[in-house]
Amino acid sequence: MARTLTDQVIIITGASSGIGAATALMCAEAGMDIVLSARRADRLEKVEQEIKQRGRQAISVVGDVTDDGISQRMLDTAQAKFGRFDVVFSNAGYGFESSVADMDMGKLRQIFEVNFFASLDLIQTAARSLINEKRPGHLLMCSSCLAKFTLPYYSAYSATKAAQNHMCRAMSLELRAHNIKVSSVHPITTTTEFFDVSNKLSGKETKSNVPDHASSMFVQSPETVARAVVKCLRKPCPEVWTSHIVRSVAGVMTAFPRFFDFVVRKQAKM
Ligand SMILES: NC(=O)c1ccc[n+]([C@@H]2O[C@H](COP(=O)([O-])OP(=O)(O)OC[C@H]3O[C@@H](n4cnc5c(N)ncnc54)[C@H](OP(=O)(O)O)[C@@H]3O)[C@@H](O)[C@H]2O)c1
Repeated sequence: MARTLTDQVIIITGASSGIGAATALMCAEAGMDIVLSARRADRLEKVEQEIKQRGRQAISVVGDVTDDGISQRMLDTAQAKFGRFDVVFSNAGYGFESSVADMDMGKLRQIFEVNFFASLDLIQTAARSLINEKRPGHLLMCSSCLAKFTLPYYSAYSATKAAQNHMCRAMSLELRAHNIKVSSVHPITTTTEFFDVSNKLSGKETKSNVPDHASSMFVQSPETVARAVVKCLRKPCPEVWTSHIVRSVAGVMTAFPRFFDFVVRKQAKM
């Protein structure tokens, strides 16, 4: 039976743009109250206003996901404003392009800090709180389709997303007994600020919300991802995929790595 989301409280990181902001608005439409978090206070304020226009409440925790104690601060804010939290969507993240041979170790460690360690810190802190209070809950991480396969120059990003996926899969089994659901979300190319940020960090001039090589068949809006997330909140599942074709292709690619390399080399003219 589908769960009702009315009056449930969700914490969303990376809520100042893209998938996080779209999910926040769709959660408000589903009747939820929201704790938003990101670094850009002005952008969070806009999302807060849009939530209030939808008749729900919102509050922001401004900061970097790697700040000491920020995960606990998000939970404390939910407790103080709404008396509890029910759902956490650890969504903040970014990517950059680099060959492995040229990769800067500092940049590699930093992307793991943000995409993996910080998202895990929030989910783990939330899990401990729910277990202590003997309350059910739903914990989600925004991974990627690139958790299951990688592409040339995306190894660092893909590695962080695979790590998130593995952590969620194990937690999903471990926390069953506590009535806590855990899901990883696997979007395909989504039209957000992600590629602008990635291009900037990769020293590219291009300003675009999709990568040069993306086929329109495999590009989606942040609202498509948000809809899939809300569907999963109503009917929890271990992995949320927004493209069944890419999900199937990921399976084939894992089973036949030589064939995968052949296709990618043809595609990327390598
Ligand atoms: N776009 C895609 O094609 C795609 C595909 C698969 C998965 N994803 C995943 O989807 C998630 C959301 O990305 P998006 O596509 O919506 O991109 P986006 O529009 O660039 O959103 C990224 C969000 O993360 C926040 N963020 C980044 N670094 C942060 C940090 N150190 N501390 C706090 N907040 C931080 C940003 O907020 P501030 O800058 O305000 O801090 C922003 O709200 C990411 O985890 C990404 O890996 C994206």
